[in-house]
Amino acid sequence: MKHKSINVALVSAEVKPFSKTGGLADVTGALPPELTSQGHNVTVFTPLHGGISIKKWRLKRLKRRFGVNIDEHHYFFHVYEGYLDDIVKVYFIDHYEFFKSRKRLYGYLKDGNRRYFFFNKAVLTVIKELQLPIHVLHCHDWHTGLIPNLRRHPDFQPYFAETAAVMTIHNIAFQQTLGRQQMKWKHKDDGLGLPAEDEVSIRRCNFMLRGVRHADAISTVSSQYAEEIQTPEFGNGLQEILHRRRRRLFGILNGIDYNHFDPRYDKDLHVRYHLSNLHYKRRNKSFLQDQLGLEVDDNIPIIGMATRITEQKGFELFFEVVEQLLAMHLQIVIVGSGQEEYEQKISALHQKYPEKIGCHLEFSEQAASWVYAGADIFLMPSRFEPCGLGQMIALRYGTIPVVHKVGGLAETIKDYDPATKRGNGFVFEGYTGLEMLTGIVRALETFKYRDRWDKLMRHGMKQSYSWELPARQYAKLYRFAMRKHRHASPVHFVPHPNLHLKINS
Ligand code: GLC
Repeated sequence: MKHKSINVALVSAEVKPFSKTGGLADVTGALPPELTSQGHNVTVFTPLHGGISIKKWRLKRLKRRFGVNIDEHHYFFHVYEGYLDDIVKVYFIDHYEFFKSRKRLYGYLKDGNRRYFFFNKAVLTVIKELQLPIHVLHCHDWHTGLIPNLRRHPDFQPYFAETAAVMTIHNIAFQQTLGRQQMKWKHKDDGLGLPAEDEVSIRRCNFMLRGVRHADAISTVSSQYAEEIQTPEFGNGLQEILHRRRRRLFGILNGIDYNHFDPRYDKDLHVRYHLSNLHYKRRNKSFLQDQLGLEVDDNIPIIGMATRITEQKGFELFFEVVEQLLAMHLQIVIVGSGQEEYEQKISALHQKYPEKIGCHLEFSEQAASWVYAGADIFLMPSRFEPCGLGQMIALRYGTIPVVHKVGGLAETIKDYDPATKRGNGFVFEGYTGLEMLTGIVRALETFKYRDRWDKLMRHGMKQSYSWELPARQYAKLYRFAMRKHRHASPVHFVPHPNLHLKINS
């Protein structure tokens, strides 16, 4: 039997290619087109950030003007319409003060919460005013966490009485603008009822907690992380509520957009390659060595990192053992940006060992591709990693991951065993510099046996983490949420008359 299509509003603070600070944008840019090709009707909602060009993306402004009330404040806004991959409609919420005039997506301490409070209300307002017949609100990360809660606000409740909500956690370390440690315990939001709208309550409002508490279903980006966040070590204070709601909590591993991340098609590569001409990968290696001023020699193994340069990504371990690493016969390349003190340390290392460590300390998809293609080993020693995309991308480029056994890394990378020849990378268990070093040394030893290494590369390149399966799992999750919502609904409203229409038709 063919399943009926589901009408989904997918809400995210960042969506590739329009805006991106991390893996979240990769996911929210790739999942909607895949769901659409599987027959569902997806509409994406995202802010019109300062960096998004109306001209480049040919966005069109809707004629009508919308309004949102927060306490006694009234905010007018506009909506721009655009398309993702030409097939998915995207509504950009346009508010000059909150989004258009700002350079950064997050990190404004003073009104960071208010901006997204407004955004969450604005999304519900647009759906209601345009009478979009949405079955499921799919919210991503804290920036959208109030939506499952606010759909029950008297302004929205009648329209959204039949609408289910799914909360997807990409990183539970971020729950609101202020860090949890920055707030006194007694001031912390308990997430009950509707969020209060006075200045102080908005600043204290915990969006992620409210999303987790009020959604009909919760998901996160790997099954391993779904387990981990129920523990004090990884739950960042939400472990108890997540454990209580564990029957509604699922792990769906992210996919990779192989239209973009595949050495056969990647336009950023010096030379494109695939299994049939794998020796071309070497030309990318020489190119990378040349670009970063390292000695050009195919026999020197390159350890690559393309990442946000933050504590989460394992840089404490890296700095602990980097001098020992650099004493070995190898080169290190690092591409990315992040915490200033880490960037400075990397620059200093580069000054000290210019022939051994190369870096490009700016976020650049192009330079990241050079690393995926040009390195031999891809290092991801993250302290925690909800899913991680880098290790899956690296596999497709024939670059062998060395990872910490945590979250999505533990789920996707299995330790290589030279005896059985099983495994697709090198995994270390304890979060210590020594264990990381041991993992790297095991990789370097294997690299010496070029025939073995070649097999590992080919095996990795053949693995597939496309979006097809995850998108089917999300559709299942939407149905689960719709069922739960129907059964939980205290009042039974007459279904909205538009509920049978298709949005994108
Ligand atoms: C966050 C997580 C990362 C995950 C990405 C996409 O950035 O830290 O592990 O891959 O979201 O879900």
